[in-house]
Amino acid sequence: MKLWGGRFNKETDALVEEFTASIFFDHRLAEEDIRGSMAHCKMLAACGIIAQEEADTMLAGLTEISDEIKRGEMEFFPSLEDIHMHVEKRLIEKIGPVGGKLHTGRSRNDQVALDMHMFVKKEILATASLLTNLQEAIIATAEANMDTVMPGYTHLQRAQPVLFAHHLMAYFWMLQRDRERFLDGYKRADWLPLGAGALAGTTFPINREMVAAELGFAKLYENSMDAVSDRDFVAEYLFNASLLMTHLSRLSEDLILWNSAEFGFITLDDAFTTGSSIMPQKKNPDVAELVRGKTGRVLGNLLGLLTVLKGLPLAYNKDMQEDKEGLFDTVDTIKVSLTLYAAMLRTIATDKERMYAAVAGDFASATDLADYLVRKGLPFRDAHAVVGKLVGKCVVEKRRLVDLSEAELREASPLFEAEALALLPPEACVAARTSRGGTARSAVEEQLTRAKALL
Ligand code: ARG
Repeated sequence: MKLWGGRFNKETDALVEEFTASIFFDHRLAEEDIRGSMAHCKMLAACGIIAQEEADTMLAGLTEISDEIKRGEMEFFPSLEDIHMHVEKRLIEKIGPVGGKLHTGRSRNDQVALDMHMFVKKEILATASLLTNLQEAIIATAEANMDTVMPGYTHLQRAQPVLFAHHLMAYFWMLQRDRERFLDGYKRADWLPLGAGALAGTTFPINREMVAAELGFAKLYENSMDAVSDRDFVAEYLFNASLLMTHLSRLSEDLILWNSAEFGFITLDDAFTTGSSIMPQKKNPDVAELVRGKTGRVLGNLLGLLTVLKGLPLAYNKDMQEDKEGLFDTVDTIKVSLTLYAAMLRTIATDKERMYAAVAGDFASATDLADYLVRKGLPFRDAHAVVGKLVGKCVVEKRRLVDLSEAELREASPLFEAEALALLPPEACVAARTSRGGTARSAVEEQLTRAKALL
């Protein structure tokens, strides 16, 4: 007999049972479900809605059930639908009919909303700490590369020389915003829905503030219909995860390019790469590729939930059960991605000579030559044209900017003096960019100091 079977005269169709059941994924909410039930139970007793001895019996039973689940002893049945029914049914089995009092003044609608809030709050904190861990790995890798000069790119064309540390640190700041965004989302996950009942509140003299205090919620939903219908906090988590994965995917793309033979800037460690079943020479950047690839499913999970929610009238609809698998999958995907990335970054080897050669053999100091003319009084637009001509000449003659002589510079503009030649080496371009947030070593050191203060 089902817990809700009273008004039914027929068995549920077996396929319907299987189709509507969520137990095979929502068992992941068991810990939250039981903690929530315990808080509810204590409150019912404190408000005189049930007797204290009844509450004590239930609390002891719930503790045992929690241990059983942790030991993997609970068997899951589609006929019992979800984790809420499994726990309640087991409680009644263990302590008898008094277990049936647990659901007083409560519905599965506010119960599942509570479980989801508790789960998301827990996972926001876990995500934030994994983000910190990755940020630390970025700082460590940056600090090991304070004198590694490489081409900075725009349009994937060599643009201006930068420190490898500077390029890496750009990701630190993306992840910093991600971490702040997740933690900001915590505020909205921190509203207690329990006490909303099915949708309209309850006739029992409950004390929601007490449950909030017991479970560590900062606020209460002020509208029972909103309380059971709201999945904004899940959508927010999924959006934050989507943006995080978008950032990791961009980092993946950089690493994959740099690790290619064509760039040859870095070598990923053997422990973080895999081989080919046919080509003996291959060493593939699978981790970076999969992080980039898994970004697709995380973005899909966000869109999936928004699409489920957009058509729902108030209040609870069974559609909302679809909020779980995408969330669980997202949590698992970002956790493993963050963990692997932190470990992988710490082991990358850089080829400083290759990076330097890539930037020295090019025109990456062109802007600095133009800036020189500007300091001599030429309007920037004219300076741009003068240096553009010099670059054109080098292209035709297959030479580099560093190969130009003082005479050739002076021929292009009489404003050039011998000192301009000193601007051409890439390390000079880097050293000159001392503006706040720039790539000069001093500016990057300052950046690192500010970054460390945030961890
Ligand atoms: N398994 C359900 C879910 O995840 C729990 C809530 C069910 N409520 C209901 N009225 N059928 O959404």
